[in-house]
Amino acid sequence: MHSANGTAPGASPSVGSTAPRKRINAHVTGWGRYVPAQILSNKDLERMVDTSDEWIVSRTGISERRVAAAHETTASMGSVAALRAIHAAGIDPDEIDLILLATLTPDYWMPSTAALVKEAIGNTRAAAMDVAAACSGFVYGFATAQAWIESGLAKHVLVIGAELLTRFLDYTDRGTCILFGDGAGAAVLSASEEPGGSLAIELTTEPQGAYMIWLPAGGAKSPPSAETIARGEHFIRMEGKETYRFATRTLASTALESVRKAGLEPDDISLFIPHQANIRIIEAVAKGLDLPMDRMYTNVDRYGNTSAASVPIAMAEAVNEGRVKAGDNITIVAFGAGFTSGAVTINWTADPARGRDADEAIRPQDVHVRLPVDWDSVDPIPPALAEIMARPGTVNPPLDDVVPGEPEPASHPVAR
Ligand code: UT7
Repeated sequence: MHSANGTAPGASPSVGSTAPRKRINAHVTGWGRYVPAQILSNKDLERMVDTSDEWIVSRTGISERRVAAAHETTASMGSVAALRAIHAAGIDPDEIDLILLATLTPDYWMPSTAALVKEAIGNTRAAAMDVAAACSGFVYGFATAQAWIESGLAKHVLVIGAELLTRFLDYTDRGTCILFGDGAGAAVLSASEEPGGSLAIELTTEPQGAYMIWLPAGGAKSPPSAETIARGEHFIRMEGKETYRFATRTLASTALESVRKAGLEPDDISLFIPHQANIRIIEAVAKGLDLPMDRMYTNVDRYGNTSAASVPIAMAEAVNEGRVKAGDNITIVAFGAGFTSGAVTINWTADPARGRDADEAIRPQDVHVRLPVDWDSVDPIPPALAEIMARPGTVNPPLDDVVPGEPEPASHPVAR
């Protein structure tokens, strides 16, 4: 932030002025997403754990999910999605005042993944921080962005949801490893005195569910050690049934609360964009709101659960597919570990066409996250995935190509 009084450059200069300040609204001006090219199908999983395509599709609606290549990270995927959102917004990366990156799979404990993204997208002036609210993280970040903009603290805020979950899964636990995938989505929120934009927020946290989805080791309570690794405590654990119950109880009520706070009714919302965890959970939301399924956007079949990335990926795809028009009201809604849940009702004002050429304009191989000098990580691909990722036609470049401190070779195939 570059202003002495906390007012972003370009925002209404109200501090010290006696003139009544006009209401500043937070409009979505940019959106983008990136998913890795590598597909992990249900058939692939049948070879790894005791499961079946039929079970996974009928119980979750998931057919396939994406897996990040060895050279990819949460920061690299988040940077591509971010640049696509910035491209759609038609602004320069350096116009962003605040970067919020929601993730439960940061590249490192420190620095923040947001800081790595800030450098990769060529921004010199924004404040950057991560948001830890698990699968609700993007919605929490979006709500925070709205608050910064409406208070006059920022003119343009970049909100990213990015996850690399496939490196935190136990591929012997069929209750979790079939659910999750990798990817990133982003949105730019911009200040405007025009009506519309983000209308109403509802956020909840129910800590009695704290240990229903958790990653036991690696934090201060249980630092990583040979013992924690031997106990598999570096993998995501989940009580699926309890989580399912929480989701079906809470998602519709959280969405409804946000819709009503906006002075609207569910019928006024042309599209709900829910967290993509399980098609049965999304069906329960539709039922709870007494709406047909065609008012719910779904892509869980293609990506599985990408946690904080799920809502922004879905939002970008919904807009680019023509499911959202200028003037429409939409509601984004998510739930996740914590237990957290959140919803924001938005009056969409941007021209959907702005997002459609972002995939072509921003190529993943042109985006580089700086790596540390004099340090090389071990091969990040879980052994259970290595065979699948080594098959012919893979998009995974040899690990040796990734030299710390040097840019990646420009020959990586384009992934969309
Ligand atoms: O972002 C938030 C993240 N988490 C979630 O959203 C998860 C919410 N929960 C769910 O989506 C569901 O609870 C699951 C998909 C995880 C599980 O579906 P379910 O219908 O609740 O199944 P279940 O846990 O009750 O298991 C039913 C049966 C069990 O076998 P028995 O005891 O009836 O013989 C499980 O052992 O299905 C078995 N099972 C499987 N079978 C084949 C569990 N996982 C699998 C599997 N393949 N992958």
